[in-house]
Amino acid sequence: MRAAWYERNGPARDVLTVGELPTPSPAPGEVRVRVAVSAVHRCDTRKRRGTSGSVMRFPRIIPHDDGAGVIDAVGRGVDARRLGQRVWVYLAQSYRPFGTAAEYTVVPDPQAVALPAGVPFDQVAGLGRPGITGHRAILGDGTVVGQTVVVTGALGSVGRSSLAVGRRAGATVIAAVRQDAQVARALAAGAHHAVDLASGRVARRILELAPGGVHRVADCAFADNLATWLETLAYGGTIATYANGRSRAPVPFRSLAVKNVTVHFLGNDDFPDDANHAAAVDLTAALCAGDLCFPKVRSFALDDIVEAHEAAEQPATRGRVVVTP
Ligand SMILES: NC(=O)c1ccc[n+]([C@@H]2O[C@H](COP(=O)([O-])OP(=O)(O)OC[C@H]3O[C@@H](n4cnc5c(N)ncnc54)[C@H](OP(=O)(O)O)[C@@H]3O)[C@@H](O)[C@H]2O)c1
Repeated sequence: MRAAWYERNGPARDVLTVGELPTPSPAPGEVRVRVAVSAVHRCDTRKRRGTSGSVMRFPRIIPHDDGAGVIDAVGRGVDARRLGQRVWVYLAQSYRPFGTAAEYTVVPDPQAVALPAGVPFDQVAGLGRPGITGHRAILGDGTVVGQTVVVTGALGSVGRSSLAVGRRAGATVIAAVRQDAQVARALAAGAHHAVDLASGRVARRILELAPGGVHRVADCAFADNLATWLETLAYGGTIATYANGRSRAPVPFRSLAVKNVTVHFLGNDDFPDDANHAAAVDLTAALCAGDLCFPKVRSFALDDIVEAHEAAEQPATRGRVVVTP
């Protein structure tokens, strides 16, 4: 099969190779997917660069965790009726050597999620990592029915997923964006309310919307935004966070303790399987209902994977980059 791989960490141009590799066969409990679209997330480019603590766990790595395509072979123990099914795939290269940047990828059966007709592959190819993270940020600490949740980075991939999951799960969702011009877009993306974190009066505005305080925050920049949550969280509230932001301020232990705040640090490679499966079901339903959609992606041929990785590393693309094997 045609595939892209690297055998050492480094810049895309120095380490990525495209060529022929043996087509993999599914082991018991696995399915093989003929990949239509393979997503390039920034965590894929960080793993390839060897930054953020990434190391070469295997001598050769086919990159990319997420993708979409059609099941064309099943291993022993997998329902043969899955053959021919359209699917989206998550965490293909998490703790495994071979991801989706190839004509074929092999994943455990539950990590290939059935995709109803009509949902285009490029809408779901990049869903796995951000979608499942956004889902867990909202629901990883129990029900949000009747609660108020704040979602930062609401127009990003994780944030859009959190907005959709929160709204569908019965919460009142306040999107927190960083520019006034994004407020209308966040409302259009599904938020009940939207506030501008940079306005200088964001805490007051959130407390006007949630006078008893916010129950849960799904936050993309823990250290940058913590002061706002200390002002606006209800007693016993939860901050679920999946990235730190730029601030290096010390953790204000006493202020968090006084409010009995739960801080849930999320690492998507290590969520429990049942949380991943529940997220996959909910996210697929949200997509099919039209409650979750993502901006258009930039698409590259597999042969141009170097350019695809370089594009994904640019802030402007927001990681919405795919390759088509
Ligand atoms: N821990 C995990 O398992 C996990 C999983 C998935 C993603 N992540 C990480 O989470 C981050 C977001 O991922 P993504 O896919 O959603 O990225 P994305 O699509 O690029 O969106 C990032 C969003 O975060 C906003 N943002 C950035 N810094 C902010 C800050 N200090 N305060 C408030 N908002 C801020 C951006 O707003 P602007 O429009 O104003 O720039 C944008 O809306 C990335 O660093 C990614 O690597 C971690």
